[in-house]
Amino acid sequence: MAITRLVACLLLCTGFAIELTCLIESISTNNPRIEWKKIKNGIPSYVYFQNRIAGDLEHRAQLREPANIVIFNTSRSDTAEYRCEVAAIDDQRDFDEILISLAVRVKPVVPRCSVPEAVTVGTSTELRCLENEGFPAPQYRWFHNSEELPQDPKISPKLVNSSYSINPDTGSLKFRWVRKEDAGEYYCQAKNDAGHAQCPSQTMEVYDVDILGIFLKVCGVVTVLLSFGAFLCHCLKHGCLSKKGLNENNFNWPAQNDAVEYADADEGHFRHKSSFII
Ligand SMILES: *[C@@H]1O[C@H](CO)[C@@H](O)[C@H](O)[C@H]1NC(C)=O
Ligand SMILES: *[C@@H]1O[C@H](CO)[C@@H](O)[C@H](O)[C@H]1NC(C)=O
Repeated sequence: MAITRLVACLLLCTGFAIELTCLIESISTNNPRIEWKKIKNGIPSYVYFQNRIAGDLEHRAQLREPANIVIFNTSRSDTAEYRCEVAAIDDQRDFDEILISLAVRVKPVVPRCSVPEAVTVGTSTELRCLENEGFPAPQYRWFHNSEELPQDPKISPKLVNSSYSINPDTGSLKFRWVRKEDAGEYYCQAKNDAGHAQCPSQTMEVYDVDILGIFLKVCGVVTVLLSFGAFLCHCLKHGCLSKKGLNENNFNWPAQNDAVEYADADEGHFRHKSSFII
């Protein structure tokens, strides 16, 4: 007896069915004992045992006569080694086995991209791209105005003065200093053996001066002034200092009843506070 292996297809995407083939050649035993084991991280578990599908594949696999296993709706968790063991007692060679490595590949989903909306000429910035579903982990490519950015800008006469660098493993596109010419539409693509996906393009604008920064600073100053004005109005209307003092006294009445020292201490505290504010 001898068994040969045939794997229907090794490059498959999640959600498909796969057939692990265990062909038995020249066998004289009528009912050979067939077992399948799954070995993941060195730990074996049964897939087919005592003529039944077992373990985590129980409702997702079936035996196709004589000894093949079909796994449905394959997912990343099916990546493992599978061992077909055949025992044929009437044969001269009464045991044989084969090992099949199954690598389930998963197509990337649409990556999450972050592109700053506005940056200032001469500053540094980073565009990010991340995809977590694909298996094996995808490689990233960036596109500027629909043209792929080479990993090294120096190789392109048009981009020779650009300061960017791309990390295809992490999906980061970094500019050490942004130029006017770097403005435009950006998108990223995540790609592995099983396929690719890309995010919608986003616009990055490049300003000569830090308009955004100035705007935010002005907003900040205005907010502070308005809050101060509101505080002053409130104080003039309600006399916030004396009211606050009264509240404190009311709140402390029980303490004063209990121990006179505390009341003295509190009054001292209050006096100190009012003189401090005035
Ligand atoms: C595979 O998944 C689909 C949808 O998720 C489901 O309808 C179907 O029953 C599954 N097939 C098996 C054999 O588990
Ligand atoms: C790159 O910079 C050099 C020196 O500043 C300049 O002469 C050249 O025209 C620039 N090239 C491009 C494509 O902008």
